[in-house]
Amino acid sequence: MKIISANFEKKDSHTLAVYEAGGGYAAARKALSMGGGAVVEEVKKSGLRGRGGAGFPAGVKWGFVPKGVDQPVYLCVNADEGEPGTFKDRHIMEKDPHRLIEGIIIASYAVGIHTAFIYVRGEYVFQIARTQRAVDEAYAKGYLGPDVMGSGFALDVVIHRGAGAYICGEETGLIESIEGKKGQPRPKPPFPAVVGLFRCPTVVNNVETISALPFIINEGAEKYASLGTPKSTGTMLFSVSGMVEKPGVYEQEFGVNFWEFLEKRAGGVKGGRALKAVVPGGSSSPILTADEARSATLDYESLAEKGSMLGSGAIIVYSEDVCLVRALAVITRFYAHESCGQCPPCREGTYWLHRIVKRIETGAGTMSDLDLILRVCGNMRGTTVCVLSDACAMPVESYVRKFRSEFEEHITRGGCRFPAETG
Ligand SMILES: Cc1cc2nc3c(=O)[nH]c(=O)nc-3n(C[C@H](O)[C@H](O)[C@H](O)COP(=O)(O)O)c2cc1C
Repeated sequence: MKIISANFEKKDSHTLAVYEAGGGYAAARKALSMGGGAVVEEVKKSGLRGRGGAGFPAGVKWGFVPKGVDQPVYLCVNADEGEPGTFKDRHIMEKDPHRLIEGIIIASYAVGIHTAFIYVRGEYVFQIARTQRAVDEAYAKGYLGPDVMGSGFALDVVIHRGAGAYICGEETGLIESIEGKKGQPRPKPPFPAVVGLFRCPTVVNNVETISALPFIINEGAEKYASLGTPKSTGTMLFSVSGMVEKPGVYEQEFGVNFWEFLEKRAGGVKGGRALKAVVPGGSSSPILTADEARSATLDYESLAEKGSMLGSGAIIVYSEDVCLVRALAVITRFYAHESCGQCPPCREGTYWLHRIVKRIETGAGTMSDLDLILRVCGNMRGTTVCVLSDACAMPVESYVRKFRSEFEEHITRGGCRFPAETG
């Protein structure tokens, strides 16, 4: 079933005219007549979980915003899309920006927010232009501004460009960045819902989370909750890449067999090769062996049971001829580059993990390096202000534990046996 991507194939789907012709903005009108509390309850009942990575229930998060405070409350829509392998929010902004804006109206009204920011990575030049045009259209039609749809509710939407730092996707790094500071995460608690942007209560939600709201309000929480599984309700956009026949973004209801989904929708492994492994939820998620991928279902619970996570829904497929040591060297280089440096275990750990993995890849590693890697990972987990450190340590540990023989072979052979173009 298509909810988020329902309009993706329509001609001029990014325009207000096409969005409204398909029933767009009816949900915002309905929400504005329901009362904020009822909207929050509806979202809680829907079971909608955040699509930015952690899968936290959206309505519950909104419920943490203190009531009756003498301060503005802000919404920050997280469009940083920094997790390697993830490329779904850009599709929403490019093909259906009005769905996002309608979702912003619904969330803002529900929580009592009058200023919403869309924090988007600066590289998304085209998507920024499209979304800005949609925001302008919404203002011109009176759907944003001092009197949204004649309801008396005021809402401004500001698009804020980031400069392409992964750490600015972390919610408090994002908040610091909007405040004009270096994007360094803040210690939590206090959580942003209580002390966030400009020290005011702030809701941070991913683009896709917010874009699910028009359906939930239009069709009702029960309809949404009837899709998927009891704990993973609705659908999710999956960014599928790597060694598959048809890489792309696919919307899928939760609960189907993980590998059947990849075979049916993405055409299975490229060129009929054998499957070696799958990264299920972006580069931070622990890797799955082929057997684990075949027996998993596509939902939060099943992947947690397998010791991994659904994360941002970024699935990367590795075929038999992909070198996992080289793949891990690329991943560790990314985290070493993106660590903001404020916490020593992350700053030093990501740097050293990359150096050690890289030396194994180039044939200069020793067997003791493997235990050294695991020791470094142990020192990086749960010891820092944000989880970028864990996001590096978790995949590294899983690659080394599950595919240790491949690392050992690099060490004994003094290099890689896989062809450079796939490895
Ligand atoms: C290092 C790091 C990078 C992150 N990058 C993103 C991102 O690019 N987009 C995103 O939506 N969430 C990202 N997150 C998660 C956010 O901190 C936050 O949980 C999320 O935006 C909340 O929205 P949700 O509840 O709708 O998922 C990141 C987290 C970490 C630790």
